Amino acid sequence: MIPRLKFAHLPTTIEAMPRLSGALNGPRLLVKRDDQTGLAFGGNKTRKLEFLVAEAQSQGAKTLITAGALQSNHCRQTAAAAARFGFDCILVLVGEPPAETSANLLLDQLFGAQIIWTKKSLRDKTLQEVFETSASKGQKPFLVPYGGSNPTGALGYVFAMEEFISQNIPADWIVIASSSGGTQAGLVLGARVFGYPGKILGISVDEPKHTLQRRVATLASETGKRMEKKMGFTEDEVLVNSDYSIPGYGVMTPAEVEAISLFARYEGLLLDPVYTGRAAAGMIDLIRKGFFNRNDTVLFWHTGGQPALFAEKYQNDLAR
Ligand SMILES: Cc1ncc(COP(=O)(O)O)c(C=O)c1O
Repeated sequence: MIPRLKFAHLPTTIEAMPRLSGALNGPRLLVKRDDQTGLAFGGNKTRKLEFLVAEAQSQGAKTLITAGALQSNHCRQTAAAAARFGFDCILVLVGEPPAETSANLLLDQLFGAQIIWTKKSLRDKTLQEVFETSASKGQKPFLVPYGGSNPTGALGYVFAMEEFISQNIPADWIVIASSSGGTQAGLVLGARVFGYPGKILGISVDEPKHTLQRRVATLASETGKRMEKKMGFTEDEVLVNSDYSIPGYGVMTPAEVEAISLFARYEGLLLDPVYTGRAAAGMIDLIRKGFFNRNDTVLFWHTGGQPALFAEKYQNDLAR
């Protein structure tokens, strides 16, 4: 039995987006609300952390250590899970302490996480050093991988696919923001294990197409092994569009601003500037280009991240 804690608010609902669909003159649009998974404003990390925190507990760990960007949703949710289950938490964040502490960083601090700052080029090294120091002090550290994306974390999305299939609302396409790849890998494996016939399109947030395809295929295969299923995945079985990643990680362009604004004004839904804003911008562009058939059903799998809306860096562009 693979250990799992159950704290996510599941199943997440699937809602129709008829006004957005009408405004875009597009296919039928649905949204799966994984921004409502619970745990510190929810998001895709909750499902991954059910397995990762259970593994940490089963190993007798006392401290969760992870790394990410200054406004990392993964770090915010890991810090919350640590607080909830009685671990200490150390976060290695890339950047420098900002003049004003806002959004996810503010929440990291509220959850009592210790923050260590590093440069991007030194991230892996700093993480390793922090881990070793913590171990040598007897703090029993457990390393939560970047983005929660290893075979343990990806299990969360294998079972998310099972949940989606059991909701019996068929979709021809699932569109999802993809970055460290665990979410897409879990869905791709889950689709094969539980039998979802549609397509899963990852909109790359920050990686070139082939890098992300390779990462997702490898992770899906490894996660299959973790489940004792012999299932191999090749790169070309993983659908990725990286056209929208060109501006770079965390750079909010007019396309993300428009996507955030369309979801807000037509559906009363909030996206985030980094991940779901970019994935939705990609989906909207693909709709306009006629990529989907008019009678397709396209499900936007919302992975959360909205606290970043309140990060200082995005305020000027969003406040109009
Ligand atoms: C809100 C949000 N959506 C999507 C993703 C991407 O998920 P993954 O890293 O599993 O590809 C992240 C990752 O940090 C995220 O925070």
